[in-house]
Amino acid sequence: MLVSPSLLAADFSALAAEIERIPNADMLHVDVMDGVFVPNISIGPGVIQAIRGKTAMPFDVHLMIQRPLQYIETFASSGADSITFHPECGDDPAKVVDAILACGKKAGFAIKPKTAAQTVFSQAERLYMVTIMSVEPGFGGQEMMVHTLEKIQVIKKHFPHILVEVDGGVNRETAILCKNAGADILVSGTAIFAAADPVSEISFLKNI
Ligand code: DX5
Ligand code: ZN
Repeated sequence: MLVSPSLLAADFSALAAEIERIPNADMLHVDVMDGVFVPNISIGPGVIQAIRGKTAMPFDVHLMIQRPLQYIETFASSGADSITFHPECGDDPAKVVDAILACGKKAGFAIKPKTAAQTVFSQAERLYMVTIMSVEPGFGGQEMMVHTLEKIQVIKKHFPHILVEVDGGVNRETAILCKNAGADILVSGTAIFAAADPVSEISFLKNI
């Protein structure tokens, strides 16, 4: 299992120090929210650029923003290694994938709890990852909606090359449900950053 800590749950006043607490993470999950696509506002490309030099681990930027197409180049140059966006975003998903790949970055889809797994099919050949949102996007610290995990097998069956990630409410108890459902990557914010020892939380999730 790969583990991708969500920076949303980190102490925003000390991001460099927070990144030092997760040396055994496989990648960093960076939640970008615009207050339109979701009812919350988080961080943007300036912050991503500022922390990029603090670690060598890959940055997966999760764009929870309306009309992301105009910002793909900005996020790519800020230091994203992969850009994950929502097909529900209001832009043509094919064009957004085109833009991400044109920047030399990997493209991922993230789908909301009520969005069908089949929504990813049209672009699936070009995606490296699909993120199953197991909470309504917008806030950390929510409870996992377990039924969303059923989408993992639908995607895996048709597109075995895709890495499937679960985002929302992942902790020591729910991680096993994700594993049993076929997940490849776990995003976890609160469970990792609120822990006294994030390294052991990450190890636990990796070895689930
Ligand atoms: C929710 C974000 C998640 C969130 C996960 O909109 O996309 O990445 O930070 O946080 P936890 O692990 O606390 O549910
Ligand atoms: Zn996220």
